[in-house]
Amino acid sequence: MGSLLHLVSALVLSSPGAWAVRMFNFRVLDSINKPSGGHQRCQEIGYDGLAILSSPEAYRHALTVIAPNITAATNRFAIGLFFDKAAKDVLWADGTKYAADTPWNNPPPDRSGQLPFGRMRGDGKIIMTRNSFAAFSLCGTYNTRESYGKTLSEQQPDGQTSSLDIKETKSFLHCKVLCGADIRCRAAEFNFDLSTCTTFASKMFSGFTTNKATSTFVREGF
Ligand SMILES: *[C@@H]1O[C@H](CO)[C@@H](O)[C@H](O)[C@H]1NC(C)=O
Repeated sequence: MGSLLHLVSALVLSSPGAWAVRMFNFRVLDSINKPSGGHQRCQEIGYDGLAILSSPEAYRHALTVIAPNITAATNRFAIGLFFDKAAKDVLWADGTKYAADTPWNNPPPDRSGQLPFGRMRGDGKIIMTRNSFAAFSLCGTYNTRESYGKTLSEQQPDGQTSSLDIKETKSFLHCKVLCGADIRCRAAEFNFDLSTCTTFASKMFSGFTTNKATSTFVREGF
């Protein structure tokens, strides 16, 4: 109970502005459904299906949308995350793979196919479940994308082990956009001399260090 109260107060303090609310179109279904039924019901009322929370920004917004319906940390909200038989892996409803820092309740997610439906609990943890237990459903539209973060001038990611991508870009702004377009990206380093943008996922760097030739966009993680 203590952790639930802590969660709810954190949500109130960090509730996003009207701008973020416009970006993501999520709502909790009025009816209680099994995940497959919730997905269908969301589509019947004009959403693309159960909500995709693949980015930290979408995930945070979802926490604010489900907050009024949370009475216990163990409440369940079906989301657009499914076991894909062909891929033998858990994928978001638009086919993207989950980010390395996804807040699973019990990582890594079950890949046996026995628990095919993803749900978010009241405490924000993500779990895989059967289709048998009727609970809340979180609907969403799938075309929204935004990234929040901050700029570190003259700094670069330190302890680089690998990168997601290296591209020539015209500007630091374009580099930030590239990071926002990849749900895994947590940092994007723009080199002003080379006009290159290097993007990194959560575990591909360890901190930041001075580099006069670069600026880095650091995206908020989960
Ligand atoms: C979720 O909370 C809202 C706001 O309190 C309420 O109107 C709605 O009925 C709740 N949904 C369910 C399924 O209980």
